Amino acid sequence: MTKVAVIGTGYVGLIQAVGLAEIGHHVTCIDTDEAKIGRLKKGQSPIFEPGLPEALSTVIGSQAITFTTDLAEGVKDAEIIFIAVGTPSDTDGRADLKYVWTVAKDLVKTPTGAALVVIKSTVPVGTNRELQEFFQKAKLGFTVVSNPEFLREGSALDDFRAPDRVVLGTNRPEVAAQLVALYEPLGAPVLLTTLETAELIKYASNSFLALEISYINSIALLAEKVGADVTQIAAGMRLDARIGKRAFLDAGLGYGGSCFPKDVKALKHFMVAQKSDSGLLEETERINQKMRGHFLALAKKELRSFPGKTIALWGGAFKAGTDDIREAPSLDIIAALHREGAKIRLFDPAASEAIKKVFPFVTIAETPIGAAKGADGLLVITNWAEFTAIDLTELKAAMKKPVVVDGRNLFPPIEMTQAGFTYRSVGR
Ligand code: UGA
Repeated sequence: MTKVAVIGTGYVGLIQAVGLAEIGHHVTCIDTDEAKIGRLKKGQSPIFEPGLPEALSTVIGSQAITFTTDLAEGVKDAEIIFIAVGTPSDTDGRADLKYVWTVAKDLVKTPTGAALVVIKSTVPVGTNRELQEFFQKAKLGFTVVSNPEFLREGSALDDFRAPDRVVLGTNRPEVAAQLVALYEPLGAPVLLTTLETAELIKYASNSFLALEISYINSIALLAEKVGADVTQIAAGMRLDARIGKRAFLDAGLGYGGSCFPKDVKALKHFMVAQKSDSGLLEETERINQKMRGHFLALAKKELRSFPGKTIALWGGAFKAGTDDIREAPSLDIIAALHREGAKIRLFDPAASEAIKKVFPFVTIAETPIGAAKGADGLLVITNWAEFTAIDLTELKAAMKKPVVVDGRNLFPPIEMTQAGFTYRSVGR
């Protein structure tokens, strides 16, 4: 059992903390947000993540986790300190590191038994080295370790419990044993690297996955022209073991969320600054943005025009399993439909509230069928599995016109046509 402090109870910090508590460590979570710490103490999860409320209540029950707003109290007995505060993008797409540096400066003034400071936050290449030098100048014996996270929203706890790999970057490899032991119960391969390599593994992985998505989307645009089916193309590609069955080859509206857009942008900026070739990433972004316009054009073609029409939207979240709408394709779609005078009725199992906050003019429906009732057309925006379980006869009866434009390729085209829909999807 290791005593661990986790600073920052956002998405990454909270999953890290609960996950470490589950595998037998003692974790203190620290956050300056009193309301959040108050809720956590009562066992209430501040984020939507499947399985988190149950996991939280188990580790609170076994006293493996505690919460505080007091940094000094939180790090006093810790052997390892994790920093997992936010690194939002500034207007140029650069990561804003003010929260990381505030914590680093506070740590210099705070007594602790910890020897390791582990950075979970995604930070630009070189930041961990700067932090290491900063602590050295302050005459603190901390060793900085870069330990990037690879959690997906919606399956973050499962990803923590069964990681593909644990990456540990440090310039003092002799300290790594302590962290290897910490993660040992997870049974994952551990990759020991330098600080810069660990930082780049994170950016390179996310950007590569984003690139895969833009690649399959460019194939989807071609497939439409020649009458091929991109979902079958992807299935054929995934059977190649070098590409892999989990490859990010679902074509459609493209990627969103708080990670891919931010990380692609940040890596691109870094490459430009280093006079390195950023062309692939520029194309990745361009194609991703293009898919939103392409989808709207498909919808417009099927619906003829938008003014005065009632359009049902299924999904607002950037992907299934989350209430997160950051950089979601839905944001562009809703804005464009509204500009063109459509009335919008939206259903999302988790993100309705978030959508309503940004777009008060959107009518929120309680069920998928409720959203489709009397609609001139239905646009599928998010890949929620429950959409595929809908009774197609009931859906058709509910709609004024049975037109479905599917941005996530959730339905087999033949089934939709046989059920009497005019059905369009992407790349098929
Ligand atoms: C992503 C990575 O998958 C995680 O490994 C990483 O830790 C995380 O970013 C992060 O940096 O924090 P996440 O953004 O939660 O996780 O979601 P993904 O499941 O990777 O999906 C990202 C976007 O790509 C979504 O908008 C999704 O709809 C889209 N996508 C995904 C596709 O359009 N096609 C695909 O085949 C797969």
